[in-house]
Amino acid sequence: MTGKRILLIIGGGIAAYKACELIRLLRKRGHTVRCVLTAGGAHFVTPMTLAALSEQPVHTSLWELKDEIEMGHIELSRQADLVVVCPATADLLAKMAAGIADDLATTLLLATDKPVLAVPAMNVRMWLHATTRRNVETLRGDGVTVMAPDEGAMACGEFGPGRLPEPEAIVGAIETALTPSPFVLSDIEGRAANAAPATGTSTSLSANGGLIGKHVLVTAGPTHEPIDPVRYIANRSSGKQGFAIAAALAVRGARVTLVAGPVALATPPGVDRVDVETAREMAAAVDAALPADAAVLVAAVADWHVEAAGLKIKKAGAPPALALVENPDILATLSHSPRRPRLVVGFAAETNDVVAHAQAKLARKGCDWIVANDVSGARGQSVMGGADNAIHLVTADGVETWPTLPKIEVAERLADRIADALTEPA
Ligand code: CTP
Repeated sequence: MTGKRILLIIGGGIAAYKACELIRLLRKRGHTVRCVLTAGGAHFVTPMTLAALSEQPVHTSLWELKDEIEMGHIELSRQADLVVVCPATADLLAKMAAGIADDLATTLLLATDKPVLAVPAMNVRMWLHATTRRNVETLRGDGVTVMAPDEGAMACGEFGPGRLPEPEAIVGAIETALTPSPFVLSDIEGRAANAAPATGTSTSLSANGGLIGKHVLVTAGPTHEPIDPVRYIANRSSGKQGFAIAAALAVRGARVTLVAGPVALATPPGVDRVDVETAREMAAAVDAALPADAAVLVAAVADWHVEAAGLKIKKAGAPPALALVENPDILATLSHSPRRPRLVVGFAAETNDVVAHAQAKLARKGCDWIVANDVSGARGQSVMGGADNAIHLVTADGVETWPTLPKIEVAERLADRIADALTEPA
């Protein structure tokens, strides 16, 4: 991991001197460190030391007119990838837990929208005090990562938990905090669209940088084709497979644009999502997202739309005849476009002769791969809406049949294959 921006808030404790070593280690690992020194911290280390080590301006006051004109304190709190409070004194933790903002450091902590890691260091009695225990619990409940302090002899002569962890351990905690949160399929299931992603503990996606610098376009979910202002034609696609693929591509470092039909799934971390309703909107969103290095079109796009009535169709006399009009074929259009991504992957949902239909589809659509799956089966046991997927990867080179796998693992395998394909010489 390199090149992250860390805002380091240095509290007033003897352990502040270790912040100097922390800055050195972080910079050695390619990160940029910008320091905010509290009034208490300034009794232990000087702005000059921090500026020299970080090679960045050091901020000490909320009322520094020059700083405020150049970069307001709100901006300072949001420019970083991670805010680290080290050492986090009992006083700083208490202010953070209470939402007090009476100096630059605490104001930044209240104003930030970035993850916060607090590294406590204090006297053992202060650490074990019921108030500090309560404050730490509150902060953890609010989503702040609070490291456990080390145990041992303290500068004040006492012994116990309260020592600042070693700088190497703090670097480890910082890099963990900067790693995209592990993503599990359950995170996106049943949650409102655009809800903040949660971290999970079951099967999570493994991060690697195989797709750094690549833009990958993914479509997912069904489309809804209106019949009149209150009715529409839909299909049973849940969007889970497409969302899992978008997530797997993002943790490999790709910039991912996810064009999503109407689904009740949360956006995977780090994915740019464009919500659409109809096939024609999806086609326009795909076009607008180009250029891309690869496209994975997982959406179950409706083949037809209805010449929709402007007013609700009333139940009067004979049932109405719906005039169906063919929708644009997004996959075929993209595959034959002058702006065609290097790799175009289609999906095929089939109920019979899965491989034969997929091979015909590969030729007809002009894409590079077809991921074919059997969607026969009763509702509940079917791939559509279910957690597992049994697929055949159909390419010009042949057919690979994968075992039945959770959709998240299908996503992982496919993302790895895409990374391999994009790193092969063109
Ligand atoms: N697809 C698309 N635009 C459409 C229809 C399908 O981009 N209007 C894409 C799907 O996202 C999928 C692939 O084409 O990647 C195959 O979808 P499928 O519905 O199986 O294919 P159809 O062309 O609709 O063929 P058929 O329904 O006859 O099997």
